[in-house]
Amino acid sequence: MNWSNPLFINSNWTSEISNREQKEVAAEQVAKEIKNGDVIGVGSGSTSFLAIHAIANRIEAEGLSILAIPTSHEVAMACARLNIPTTSLMAHKPNWAFDGADEIDANRRMIKGRGGALFAEKIVMASANKTFILVDPSKFVDRLGEKFPVPVEVDPRAIHLVETSLKRLGTEEIKLRNAIGKDGPIITEAGNLILDVRFNQIFDDFERKIKSIPGVIESGLFIGYNVEVISV
Ligand code: A5P
Repeated sequence: MNWSNPLFINSNWTSEISNREQKEVAAEQVAKEIKNGDVIGVGSGSTSFLAIHAIANRIEAEGLSILAIPTSHEVAMACARLNIPTTSLMAHKPNWAFDGADEIDANRRMIKGRGGALFAEKIVMASANKTFILVDPSKFVDRLGEKFPVPVEVDPRAIHLVETSLKRLGTEEIKLRNAIGKDGPIITEAGNLILDVRFNQIFDDFERKIKSIPGVIESGLFIGYNVEVISV
């Protein structure tokens, strides 16, 4: 039996999707990669949201059977609405994954986590053999960190410790991310806070250095993962 609550059935992306047409082309392209029996990691954000719809269309048209590993409630809800069965990293290893990005440079180094899903996105990407990164042209940068800060997910108890340690890495600015639709800071799906951190320059070892600070759950730096870029 299915729920018929309108709140669920009618729910759409939370705001207007920027560069929607280009994102839709990338979404259609990644949907072509689906094979019957695949377990796929599903990234978060508006591009991934469009991709899961394109995948649902293929599943329906061709009677395919797949399992999705969502990286956020938002994507888990979309899968539920679209009748795409989900599983977890606990139960399955993804054959492959797809995700969006906030910034990507010429060496495929990325900043992710505008939507706050960086932790789950990273463990899914690190678990998958390969991840398709779906990007519209606005995501390409000459210098990583040019437009977006690096999100750092932090256990609330370690907020001061992490801020102090991050400053030693040469930060330009550190901001506590505030929520929209809730007073005070954003609380991630794992119950943590997010610091948005600007750097003058992002070196390859920053992902490891940030992660090594006690209290840091994960950073939105994605450097050295096995990714294939799908752009339009
Ligand atoms: C989610 O936390 C992010 O990492 C997204 O993957 C990233 O912000 C891309 O979002 P859009 O696809 O909405 O541009």
